[in-house]
Amino acid sequence: GILPIVMAGGSGQRLWPLSRVAYPKQFLKLGGDKTMLQETVARLDGLSCAAPVVVCNEEHRFLAAEQMRGPDGLEATLVLEPVARNTAPALAAATMVALRDHEDPIVLALPADHMLADIPAFHRALGDAVRLAETGRLVTFGIVPERAETGYGYIERGEELDGGYAVHRFVEKPDAQTAADYLAGGRHLWNSGMFVFRASRFLREVKALCPEIHHACTAATADPVPDLDFLRLDRTAFARNPDLSIDHAIMEHTRAAAVVPLSAGWSDVGSFSTLWESREKDDAGNVVDGDVIAIDTHGSLVHAESRLVATFAVDDLVVVETKDAVLVTRRDRAHAIKTLVARLRELE
Ligand code: GDD
Ligand code: MG
Repeated sequence: GILPIVMAGGSGQRLWPLSRVAYPKQFLKLGGDKTMLQETVARLDGLSCAAPVVVCNEEHRFLAAEQMRGPDGLEATLVLEPVARNTAPALAAATMVALRDHEDPIVLALPADHMLADIPAFHRALGDAVRLAETGRLVTFGIVPERAETGYGYIERGEELDGGYAVHRFVEKPDAQTAADYLAGGRHLWNSGMFVFRASRFLREVKALCPEIHHACTAATADPVPDLDFLRLDRTAFARNPDLSIDHAIMEHTRAAAVVPLSAGWSDVGSFSTLWESREKDDAGNVVDGDVIAIDTHGSLVHAESRLVATFAVDDLVVVETKDAVLVTRRDRAHAIKTLVARLRELE
């Protein structure tokens, strides 16, 4: 079977003020009745998978535990990072933990910040990915690009393989000009952020390409401290990891990468603009949540949590009201609000 590892340790800054340091987006309901984390796991229903490993920051252990609790208790192994070091160390450590209980599984690494509309299409692509992973490939899923997005990884296809393609080149978050060239060239796919690999194969690659991560994670998982429902990584050892994403640390450098095309209504819920894009809109092109009156308003996302929000004669805005903070911005600039969040941090 497949062993899912869910990466749920991001900070989701671009969805402020919905997403907070203490309550990041993967633990929020952003449209359905399940949280993003729960949706991620529910997408595996019908596959033969082991219970997932969820790796997240220890600060969020109770949120993760509460959301992974089923009728018969906890339905996941929760691995806690004492400090955030990005996805390469998180995934390496979680894979090492998984190897203690499973015999060299095929790992399906999942981010917890996506929407996927067509689950059967995802399951079919996963079948191809697993076969490629069994031959020693580190497999990604490639999405046909829709715009010159600079927030994603780009994959240039190489030779055809059974069920997918070799990766000729992987470029994480290119600059705007490069992204525009890739889009125009028609040979690139977006990296969906999900990966499939055999555990030992991945760790061999980590060891070869980022020995310091392999070293720190080996030490951090040597003697993990079980604490009630949680498995804590050793703080001092884990903190020695560099802050690196799997994309920069591994995928850009490995020669074993493969890509399986995926056309399943994938969208990344990275910012309010992508959230607006992925949600169903009313006749005026608005997405509204909560107690909202939007008159002569078009192309906007308006979210009210604790009081009435009214908009009049405005277009293409993002208005997000929460109990203690309100955001108003242009939809076409909403991806850049990290700048705003950084300023708020300084003021705190
Ligand atoms: N456990 C853990 N620890 N999880 C983390 C950490 C960490 O330190 N940092 C991020 N994550 C989780 C996030 O919660 C998210 O679910 C996932 O890992 C991916 O991290 P992001 O920070 O959201 O990455 P990204 O969106 O900028 O880029 C990645 O995803 C894109 C598609 O959405 C890359 O893989 C890109 O290449 C890709 O195109
Ligand atoms: Mg993301």
